[in-house]
Amino acid sequence: MFFLRKKKNRAVLEHKDKIPVHIAVVMDGNGRWAEKRGLPRKAGHREGANTLKRIVTECDAIGVRYLTAYAFSTENWNRPKDEVDALMSLLLEFLKNADKELAGKNIRILVIGDTERLSDEIRREITRVVSNTSANTGLSLVIALNYGGRCEIASAAARIARDVKDGRISPQDVDEKLFSEYLYTKGIPDPDLVIRPSGENRLSNFLLWQSSYSEFWYSNILWPDFSRNDLHEAISEFQRRNRRYGGL
Ligand code: FPP
Repeated sequence: MFFLRKKKNRAVLEHKDKIPVHIAVVMDGNGRWAEKRGLPRKAGHREGANTLKRIVTECDAIGVRYLTAYAFSTENWNRPKDEVDALMSLLLEFLKNADKELAGKNIRILVIGDTERLSDEIRREITRVVSNTSANTGLSLVIALNYGGRCEIASAAARIARDVKDGRISPQDVDEKLFSEYLYTKGIPDPDLVIRPSGENRLSNFLLWQSSYSEFWYSNILWPDFSRNDLHEAISEFQRRNRRYGGL
């Protein structure tokens, strides 16, 4: 078994030029993982956070440059208050411990989403962790927090309209490249591979603009059970795909 896993890991590394630069993950299935075990849903989210740490380390080790994790969507506020509170305290804990956990790891943390609605304490931690890790040159872990693709696109359009109105840009300047610069992901390449476990085959308002030409990998595994091996399987399949970007 161990030998087989080693062999699989080597397989993706044999195609080093085809390691996805940017992987995005929808960390889905935490609630079901907990319910199956008779545990509160928040126990599933905690286990999901542990999975994320393992996957961050593995992505960094194999040379992935960006990993975006969907941690909280603009729609997740509709969940019961105790689940929202549990997710927020988990996020705060994750941010507070990030320095200790990442010590010596050269990982940079970025946050995308509308952070205005988050508590002052979380916003302070975001500012601190993002600034403390800004010089790191390894993997960038992009945490999507109060993130919604439609909200991101609408707010980019509003800021572009303001800049046109104030004469900073003209309507003719607005093209795909300029539009991208108004998104939360400015400077971050589009995801090559979007991974969604837990048996759901949808995008759920995640990186709508950015995933136009992403490859998708779906599986029935619940996120807390998602292993290094599953990551390697997703990457191996990605490496076998033929990306044509609308051409031949
Ligand atoms: C979806 O699973 C998952 C979420 C809404 C939250 C994901 C958040 C974490 C894993 C928390 C940690 C994140 C960081 C950055 C520390 P679900 O609850 O919808 O699962 P279900 O479909 O089984 O109910």
